[in-house]
Amino acid sequence: MLRPTAPDDTEALIELTADTGFFKPIELEALREVLDDYHAANRDLGHRSFVWEEGGRILGYVYHAPAPMTDRTWYVYWIAVSKDQQGRGLGRQILEFVEQDVRDQNGRLLLIETSSTAHYNPTRRFYLKNGYVLAANIPDFYSDGDGLIVFSKRLIPAAG
Ligand SMILES: CC(C)(COP(=O)(O)OP(=O)(O)OC[C@H]1O[C@@H](n2cnc3c(N)ncnc32)[C@H](O)[C@@H]1OP(=O)(O)O)[C@@H](O)C(=O)NCCC(=O)NCCS
Repeated sequence: MLRPTAPDDTEALIELTADTGFFKPIELEALREVLDDYHAANRDLGHRSFVWEEGGRILGYVYHAPAPMTDRTWYVYWIAVSKDQQGRGLGRQILEFVEQDVRDQNGRLLLIETSSTAHYNPTRRFYLKNGYVLAANIPDFYSDGDGLIVFSKRLIPAAG
């Protein structure tokens, strides 16, 4: 089940993320920094992270946080499910949890960034299946041929 991410989870989360085959070495380094900063300070500044654990094994996790300088916009910065556990609904349940967690904090809009490459087709399909809409597409953002796709979901109706 879902529980708050603990400092002792870092190695398991990096291994899980690496094993998905979806992240570059520089992104795995960034994940370690993000988790270290989370436990050092960012958790107290409102960042959120949770792991899905079954039988003592971490099967998935998520990291979400407020988008700076916005009125209650949030980002899902990291979400991943173990390669051998994908496709059985964990990702959907983790996203549903995040959406309610953000709503509980009066969050308004949730954004998720991903890649435009073919490798991420299943991932983009996952976000579309879960009601996210394409909000932006910046070709060649990460590198030539690897664009930035931004998905969004309103969590509360627009004012007025
Ligand atoms: C994207 C991800 C978090 C989705 O979690 P999940 O538990 O596999 O997803 P669910 O089981 O809840 O939903 C299944 C849907 O997700 C999509 N999907 C994405 N990757 C999939 C996979 N490897 N296996 C099966 N379905 C997958 C499909 O659209 C599927 O629906 P469909 O079979 O009806 O087409 C997970 O597959 C993952 O960790 N992928 C690699 C890392 C990644 O891309 N993270 C996000 C970076 S922005």
